[in-house]
Amino acid sequence: MFDNWEELEQSIKDCKKCKLNGGRTNIVFGVGNREADVMFIGEGPGADEDKEGIPFVGKAGQLMDKAFEGLGINRENVYIANIVKCRPPQNRVPEKDEAVACLNYLRNQVILVKPKIIVLLGSTALKNILGDEHSITKERGIWADKKGIIYLPTWHPAALLRDENKKIEFWKDLKLLKNLAEEKNLKI
Ligand code: URA
Ligand code: SF4
Repeated sequence: MFDNWEELEQSIKDCKKCKLNGGRTNIVFGVGNREADVMFIGEGPGADEDKEGIPFVGKAGQLMDKAFEGLGINRENVYIANIVKCRPPQNRVPEKDEAVACLNYLRNQVILVKPKIIVLLGSTALKNILGDEHSITKERGIWADKKGIIYLPTWHPAALLRDENKKIEFWKDLKLLKNLAEEKNLKI
């Protein structure tokens, strides 16, 4: 673990710790406020993210941005990262060995950011952070306090593109996030 961003970023630069390294154009490390109170964790880069090296800039990200805008959440105030930093082929779900190989970078990011709230976007984020026994269908919208961090699981924004109902629930969950943050005087 590194106690500063420079060394952490340096350590990931030529990472070949898992087989996803072969298909990437850019490592998608993370973006946003490095002192954020609220952190979002997604699954892994898609084609647009791979091209730009920035998380959530494609269709799903734009939908999330729209929700942010509507609810008064400022993307610049939060920090956004993914379970894996390199694009899985055909956007498939990251395999266990890939997630395990990459997770230490994310853990280090969490240690440096010190968020008060972590929003888990979709099943991959939920299972890799809180454990495989968790279910996004059962637990979305329900926040849990674990060792001083509040975790809020919700749908992955890509799921909203296919399901109008999930869009409504996603908005509801972000509204809950916004209220929770304001109640606790957190930057959002
Ligand atoms: N989906 C993710 O999980 N992360 C991104 O950065 C983009 C799409
Ligand atoms: Fe390294 Fe993570 Fe990329 Fe795998 S996904 S090569 S562990 S940075």
